[in-house]
Amino acid sequence: MTASTIPSVPNTTFPKLGRQDLLADPSNRITENSLTVRDNRSGKVITIPIQHNAIPATAFKALKVSAPEGTEVDLDDHNNGIRISDQGFLNTAAITSKITFIDGDKGFLMHRGYPIEQLAEKSDFLETAYLLIFGSLPDKDQDTTWRYEVMHHTALAEDAMKVIGSLRYDSHPMSVFISAFSAMAAFAPEANPALQGRDLYQKNKDILNKNIIRIIGKAGTVAAAAMRVRMNRPFIAPKSNYSYCENILYMMDAVANGEDYKPDPRLVKALDILFILHADHEMNCSTATMTHVGSSLVDPYSAVAAAAAALYGPLHGGANEAVIRMCEKIGSVENVPSFLEKVKRKEELLFGFGHRVYRNTDPRSNIIKKVTESVFEACGREPLIDVATALRDAALKDPWFVERKLYPNVDFWSGLCYRAMGFPLDFFPVLFAVPRVAGWLAHWKQNLDQGNGKIWRPRQLYIGEQKRDYVGREEREEREVTSHKEGVLELPVCIVSDEYWVDGLTLGQHYQSKRRLELSKL
Ligand code: CMC
Repeated sequence: MTASTIPSVPNTTFPKLGRQDLLADPSNRITENSLTVRDNRSGKVITIPIQHNAIPATAFKALKVSAPEGTEVDLDDHNNGIRISDQGFLNTAAITSKITFIDGDKGFLMHRGYPIEQLAEKSDFLETAYLLIFGSLPDKDQDTTWRYEVMHHTALAEDAMKVIGSLRYDSHPMSVFISAFSAMAAFAPEANPALQGRDLYQKNKDILNKNIIRIIGKAGTVAAAAMRVRMNRPFIAPKSNYSYCENILYMMDAVANGEDYKPDPRLVKALDILFILHADHEMNCSTATMTHVGSSLVDPYSAVAAAAAALYGPLHGGANEAVIRMCEKIGSVENVPSFLEKVKRKEELLFGFGHRVYRNTDPRSNIIKKVTESVFEACGREPLIDVATALRDAALKDPWFVERKLYPNVDFWSGLCYRAMGFPLDFFPVLFAVPRVAGWLAHWKQNLDQGNGKIWRPRQLYIGEQKRDYVGREEREEREVTSHKEGVLELPVCIVSDEYWVDGLTLGQHYQSKRRLELSKL
């Protein structure tokens, strides 16, 4: 049946909606703001209200059909309605939120209604964190209390320090960051819903606020401690009378510079603006992780550790580090065209370019570009800026990138900025994680406040084997080896001259697996 032959549809059914309160509208009428869907398998028609230009996925549960005749196990679950398939969440709104808005086509970003440009110019990190978490700019008293409380919760417990101190100088600072938050969870039984009751944070707003304050206060100290581990130097206690970013720079550098050390105010200001720009960005990978993990009602320290792990990857918060490695690899401006050709052949990725939501400029990248210039004035020019600028200019003119709407994102310039400030490469993602803690907590709190109480549990489309019977080891057919590449085979586990090989492992790992397999044979 073609689209033109589908008859006009009567309002026959109205599906029971899910618990997404904002979307639920039991009006049961075809209105202008609704979507009518006809299931051509059964002829069934449903009408779904559109709210906020969205429809609830649960509405499609009403479109049930029988499994094909003779099906023993219905792998496609026909009886429970149509499922929405969206790998990578390309078009799925998983929450309703009042925190951050992005217009990706216009390159516009605002937090709680305030454009990012105004916050970067007029606010500071702690005030922006308050805004994100509590919904409005603080009045004078709230502002004083908030700053006092955060800065008086910067110290880490001795035991947590011992855990951090036990990590080696060559540990990636993000691993230190993640481990520190896991350790803090262990040292805070009073903040653990597993021990104190699952509704600990819903019932007691003081405990909720106290732990938000503790986590924001300690995130900066953990970052500084990660740097000290990297330097193989003792930790330095925080100074609660310093500003948030001033204190972080102090804890990293004070011994070399003396106890009264005051970091350069130009660098403090630059870091503060970078922190504002990184504080939140709605449902990005790490914030979605925080929300997902938080939906199990685990304690917020463990949830922050999980979110930090999500941020660590090179497609997310690790991109600023990857940009510098890419610029170093390119080496000089003359090599830019050949590098871009490799990108177009999909042999390389242009790190610091592209974004799931922005299909125009990332407004944060324009602000960071200016901050980078101010950092160069204070610390000297970072030579890789020439390669980066040539990359940007060439990519913005090249139809391949223009057609795909690829523009510099927040990470393109921030790496250069951090590099000029003297931070080691592997430390960059930590400088992304510390401010993003504010956004993670804002979303965590919002979800608790909304009281949805639903654990995040997506569905899957099973495309594996149908039900089959177990075959004993002796009766199984031997599989043939089909390919062999430098000691690594493409088959999962197979036998070559009486030796076991495992797919995708390096030789060193292979021997370990081989040993394990041989042991398991005994
Ligand atoms: N370099 C080369 N090609 C790219 C890039 C890139 N950076 N980004 C996207 N593309 C290509 C992609 O391969 C696809 O090509 P085709 O149409 O030929 O298949 C096309 O552009 C459209 O991209 P997409 O599939 O819609 O991109 P996505 O939304 O799935 O991925 C992204 C978004 C940020 C993961 C991706 O752009 C990327 O990998 N960028 C580099 C890493 C990076 O800078 N990450 C930081 C993101 S901003 C801060 C943050 O969120 O942490």
